[in-house]
Amino acid sequence: MRTDQAQPVRLSEYRVANHSVTTVALDVALDPTATRVNARIDVVPHPQGVAGAPLVFDGDDLVLVSLSVDGVALPPEGFEATPERLTIFNPPARAFALEIETRINPEANTQLMGLYRSSGTFCTQCEAEGFRRITYFPDRPDVLAVYTTRIEADRALAPVLLGNGNLVETGDLEDNRHFAVWHDPHPKPSYLFALVGGDLAHVEDHFTTRSGREVVLRIYVEHGKEGRCAYAMDALKRSMRWDEEVFGCEYDLDIFMIVAVGDFNMGAMENKGLNIFNDKYVLALPDTATDQDFAQIEAIIAHEYFHNWTGNRITCRDWFQLCLKEGLTVFRDQEFTSDMRSRAVKRIADVRLLKSAQFSEDAGPLAHPVRPEIYKEINNFYTPTVYEKGAEVIRVLKVLIGAEAFKTGLDLYLKRHDGDAATVEDFIACFAEASGRDLTQFFLWYRQSGTPDVSVETHHDAVEGTFTLDIRQSLRPTPGQSMKEPMVIPLAIGLLGEDGVDRPLLTDDGQQVAGVVALNAERHRFTFSGHPTRPVLSINRGFSAPIRLKTDLRREDLAFLARHDSDAYNRWQAMQTLATQYLTDASEAVRSGGASPAPDILLEAMRAALAGSEQDPAFAAQVLTLPSEADIAREIGTNVDPSAIFAARRALRTALAQSLGDSLSGLIERLAPTSSYSPDAISAGRRALANVALDLLAAAGDAERLAAVARRFHAADNMTDRLAALAVLVQHQGSDREDALATFEERFRTDPLILDKWLALQAGIPEAGTLDRVRALMSRPGFHATNPNRLRSLVGSFASLNPTQFNRIDGQGYDFLAEVVIGLDTRNPQVAARLLGAFKSWRALEPARRAKAEAALKRVSETDGLSPDVRDIVDRSLA
Ligand code: ARG
Ligand code: ZN
Repeated sequence: MRTDQAQPVRLSEYRVANHSVTTVALDVALDPTATRVNARIDVVPHPQGVAGAPLVFDGDDLVLVSLSVDGVALPPEGFEATPERLTIFNPPARAFALEIETRINPEANTQLMGLYRSSGTFCTQCEAEGFRRITYFPDRPDVLAVYTTRIEADRALAPVLLGNGNLVETGDLEDNRHFAVWHDPHPKPSYLFALVGGDLAHVEDHFTTRSGREVVLRIYVEHGKEGRCAYAMDALKRSMRWDEEVFGCEYDLDIFMIVAVGDFNMGAMENKGLNIFNDKYVLALPDTATDQDFAQIEAIIAHEYFHNWTGNRITCRDWFQLCLKEGLTVFRDQEFTSDMRSRAVKRIADVRLLKSAQFSEDAGPLAHPVRPEIYKEINNFYTPTVYEKGAEVIRVLKVLIGAEAFKTGLDLYLKRHDGDAATVEDFIACFAEASGRDLTQFFLWYRQSGTPDVSVETHHDAVEGTFTLDIRQSLRPTPGQSMKEPMVIPLAIGLLGEDGVDRPLLTDDGQQVAGVVALNAERHRFTFSGHPTRPVLSINRGFSAPIRLKTDLRREDLAFLARHDSDAYNRWQAMQTLATQYLTDASEAVRSGGASPAPDILLEAMRAALAGSEQDPAFAAQVLTLPSEADIAREIGTNVDPSAIFAARRALRTALAQSLGDSLSGLIERLAPTSSYSPDAISAGRRALANVALDLLAAAGDAERLAAVARRFHAADNMTDRLAALAVLVQHQGSDREDALATFEERFRTDPLILDKWLALQAGIPEAGTLDRVRALMSRPGFHATNPNRLRSLVGSFASLNPTQFNRIDGQGYDFLAEVVIGLDTRNPQVAARLLGAFKSWRALEPARRAKAEAALKRVSETDGLSPDVRDIVDRSLA
């Protein structure tokens, strides 16, 4: 068993492995409790390694059965095998073949790392360090080998046997057993290894690559779920075509498989030719999945497929380089979605996620650089910082060097490093070369953690006709980084005239400039000429840099931008800023017992947005969605009182419902569907707008309006509208929410993925009874407290989407989470550590809650036998 005394791993201590591997032949005899694994591993001493060094392979919970070198069993004094390590003291100083037999127990594998069973299906998850739970191996991403996998099993138990690469042989064996042999010609690191064995159904399709390779596409699911795969299959084919057209990346095997499993720690995994997915991101029908589910499926199918180049063909030298594959692949999947759907709406959704998940991480004790330099448990670094900020940083690079140089640099990277285990330096060097620019300062985006603060002061001189921006940047200290250097920050800008039209950007000597100013020092002044009247500044258009921005824009200016900015993203941002400013003021007023400010300007801006909303419903739905309680808390930053924020937000919603009620009802009627459900982006946008309007309309708790919502719930012919109506009902005491919840449960009783939505809604009810409700739901017989999806839906939603109840003043919300984490840690440390991450903003709370949160964290910390995963999170949280 691993202990919590893990030693930190440092980027600066990277060394090549002393022994590399050229080929691996695995022979796996599947058995629920005693799977036999024979590995024949061709080893060569690494020319840059330490000559004569012992061979040291990683293991985790392994039992060695036998060991030989070039066919000769090693004498006991020649090696040492512990569950965590195999050491051969005097390995040959030449190429040799190592044969290792291990025995593993998939049934007992509750961590869901390595080989485990999900509803009877054998499957694997090897990233980051799961392969060492199958056999002893140099389990690190810079050891690349060609794998052949032979799998055998009882035919009844596992009629389907899948591996990486192409199928080369199948056959029958005695005693109703059979086997399959898979060969993957592309050298890969062990984290991309996968195998599957089980009784699964599949759907099949085909794709012809642009150079004419015929590829079989298969999605494997539980029997009876074949009818829910069509959308995922379509998304896969669109991803394959798009990657050829936009990035020039073509698929490189004869078959591409996706297997959907019900027990999975993360979203999905890009194993070569054999992606394994959380079934939540595969299965979808109009009656089972929401528009948001469809969009997520499309994005994750694309993401994992895109890894075939950015991750698999070019992999990472070590885990510090995780963003090299993840940030880039998120960037690619964001571009894909932007091309498939609305670019502006996708940008808004991405920025919302970035701010809520990543800015909050960056502002708290778990902050770390996009490329960390030290870790204790790598699984805790699959974070919004590595993924989402990692993608943002690539976007910053693109704005800085321009689209053309960016494309040249990326093409160069894909060509030059094909087959490599690369570093972020390798990646950036390609863009420096393509653009002819020195990107040393840009590299700070990878090294410095924290969100840069940028403040802008403007000055208009009517006599001179000049408009001046005084811009300052700063970066607060973060864990391990007390001193920071100024970053290079590209800000896309525009100056709007009174007519709302962009004016030419002229410098003081009359030169026209492009719409981006780049900061590279702490302070900058930019002066623009030709402005006899004061223009309105639109800055950080498209969220060109992931910064926290303060400007001296007045509320009238923000309302003006919300109407007129030619940049759609900034029209949305202006409304958000207006609402956030109002809500921070209002929650301070709630707290001090003072009078809330009048929301007039905000109300008028919302009314104007509503009036034009049908031109672009998906966009308008974003504009009309108020900042979340967490958004407001982040803006306030310190001494946060979640109850005051909730009260202020609720009061604003009530005011909006009262003043915009008629327009909202009219809008909902006009958006009523005229044809049957289709998950396309246009139809989804109309539903999104109608449901945002519905939610606002009901916000005042008016009985008649709630009754109308209940009717919508019962009449809905698709999951999006049904769930949206239910979400409104559960937020209101006294509606017939219990009826609606019971109806929903009855209808979808046998479908865990759908009941997850039902669990999440209940976990989010902002009322004092919710904690008891959550506890009751957890102890129901049907609740599988070991399944990650169930836990995330119930406990995860409670802790991260219900600020008033998780942050109960009596501390019981914190105690509950601590108790769940401690209980889960012995079974599934990865998920336990992730749930514990909900404490990431605890230091920003007001003193009473902060003390309670700290006490709960300390209780976790004082627990004996914590996993390295939970130990790492709790230690950093308390540091
Ligand atoms: N590489 C996967 C993806 O982002 C994530 C797998 C991470 N798994 C883990 N156990 N840390 O597509
Ligand atoms: Zn990924």
